[in-house]
Amino acid sequence: MCGIVGYVGPKRAVDVVLEGLRRLEYRGYDSAGVAVVENATVDVERRAGKLSNLEKALSEREQMTGTTGIGHTRWATHGAPTDRNAHPHVDCTGKVAVVHNGTIENFAELRHALEVGGHQLHSETDTEAVAHMVEERYDGDLAAAVRSVCKELGGSFVLVVAHADHPDLVVGARRNLPLVAGVGEGENFLASDVTAFIGHTRNARVVDQDQIVELRSDSITVTDLEGTVVDGEQYHVDWDTDAAEKGGYEFFMLKEIEEQPAAVRETLAGRLDSKGLLRLDELALSDEDIRDLEQVVVVACGSSYHSAMVGKYAIERWTRIATSVEIASEFRYRDPVVNRRTLLVAVSQSGETADTLEALRHARQQRAWSLAVTNTVGSTVARESDAALYTRGGPEVAVASTKAVMTQMTAMYLVGLYLAQVRGTRDPDEVRAHLRDLQEIPHLIEETLSRMEVVRELARDLSSEERVLFIGRHVGYPMALEGALKLKELAYVSAEGFPAGEIKHGPIALVEQGTPVVVLAPRHALTSKLVTNVQELRARGARTIVVTTDGDDAMEPYADHLIRIPDTKSLLSPLLTMVPMQVFAAEFAKARGLDVDQPRNLAKSVTVE
Ligand code: M6R
Repeated sequence: MCGIVGYVGPKRAVDVVLEGLRRLEYRGYDSAGVAVVENATVDVERRAGKLSNLEKALSEREQMTGTTGIGHTRWATHGAPTDRNAHPHVDCTGKVAVVHNGTIENFAELRHALEVGGHQLHSETDTEAVAHMVEERYDGDLAAAVRSVCKELGGSFVLVVAHADHPDLVVGARRNLPLVAGVGEGENFLASDVTAFIGHTRNARVVDQDQIVELRSDSITVTDLEGTVVDGEQYHVDWDTDAAEKGGYEFFMLKEIEEQPAAVRETLAGRLDSKGLLRLDELALSDEDIRDLEQVVVVACGSSYHSAMVGKYAIERWTRIATSVEIASEFRYRDPVVNRRTLLVAVSQSGETADTLEALRHARQQRAWSLAVTNTVGSTVARESDAALYTRGGPEVAVASTKAVMTQMTAMYLVGLYLAQVRGTRDPDEVRAHLRDLQEIPHLIEETLSRMEVVRELARDLSSEERVLFIGRHVGYPMALEGALKLKELAYVSAEGFPAGEIKHGPIALVEQGTPVVVLAPRHALTSKLVTNVQELRARGARTIVVTTDGDDAMEPYADHLIRIPDTKSLLSPLLTMVPMQVFAAEFAKARGLDVDQPRNLAKSVTVE
């Protein structure tokens, strides 16, 4: 939540910062702002609303020419999304400018003390307090002032600070939230995520918990809160600007849907040995520990939770290890039973979701072995887990998750098969056969994508509906939940997903003449039961849209609209049924004239609890 950029170098900082903010806008778009150090002042411009409002304001004023700057795109927490609450925030002297991601939990006390001390605060934000605290502690050494302030802050934060006295310095600080330094030549960067500076450098340096970064054009110095210089891990980003651009598509989401075959290929690549069996060295668990496991607990939020549910079906089927899936925000508060014979899997695209991170930390305190399934190298969830299995989906910019979910599900299948392989619950030939089926999936997703015109037409046709229901059984159920979430978040339609067997226990009351009901019905042993559920719905007037497998005609008589997917093993079918759900939601939202990439009230990376 909130995107942050800092730059020091020879270029006009405002250009570099705006480019970074454009790439980070998925993190929040309630307001945007920049501050540039020039002529011994800090020049600040900020506007409520999307980045385009700020760009317009900048185009109508005198150019900012300084080469050191910071910027922010906001997802509002403290205070409404207004100009006044937009970052950067400044102190009483106007010399200190601060941008912030996170929530400062002791902000009320800090603010009170500042006001008693004579400071004038103008916004409702927690961030503004930081600017005034830096002002109080500053004696010429900006990094020392930021270090001293950080020691007093509760909660989580990334701060980036500029000062009028320092035309070649930006100072960053990090606790619990992401901050990464971009290592350039004669220029350096700070950002919430590498996409912000990928157009300038692919070399990045990790900034760790409670560290302070001094960024100058020719150096990056990282210290701990006591001022001791610490070594940092540097890494090379293996994708480039093209991956972070729309590449001719109207929306990032449409591009990301099309990228799914390649993304799944990447998830699978290099993870098989010469015998066609799995090699998951990343798990870092000994065979003995795997054989000792008593349970698997998967924690996740939103779409990642749906991937986790699919993972549960696969893990239990193949390994017979009891597996539970938990909404991360609920997990730690109910005192869950977790111990050293538990494998805790945290599924998160961003690897920064606060709820998932806290669930992971709780499980680790109970001595569970932890595995991150994440798309983001070096993310907090990855760094705090015992092991990380990277999904390798590439950057996902659209707020609505597509290829990330697809690759998470693929990774969860791999985890299930690997545990089965090591525990011997499936013989090697069967594991090989499942892996061969998985390797067919990218091609089958391509085939599914080629059939989507019928789905787009249907979405346009239904786009005035205000309620759509989704039902499924077995692995069709998580896909019903995911289909409903996609439509809800993109088109603001009241969309609900249910296990098909459950509708008669209440939800069927929602059905009236013409209510659209999407039925996830890939070929499965339970299809005959699903047929009964669909008949119950049709008897009450439902208009049924059935997603089913080539060659399976069981549902055809009960479908007002039929969407066919290619045949695969039923356990793997979510990798195909998900595609029409994504296309349906995106086209539905487009037909309503909505912004498919940036739905209202949302942010891609949810770093508050
Ligand atoms: O980064 P994460 O995977 O942890 O994010 C979890 C959810 O916030 C995310 O999946 C969200 O539900 C998406 N908007 C769904 O499209």
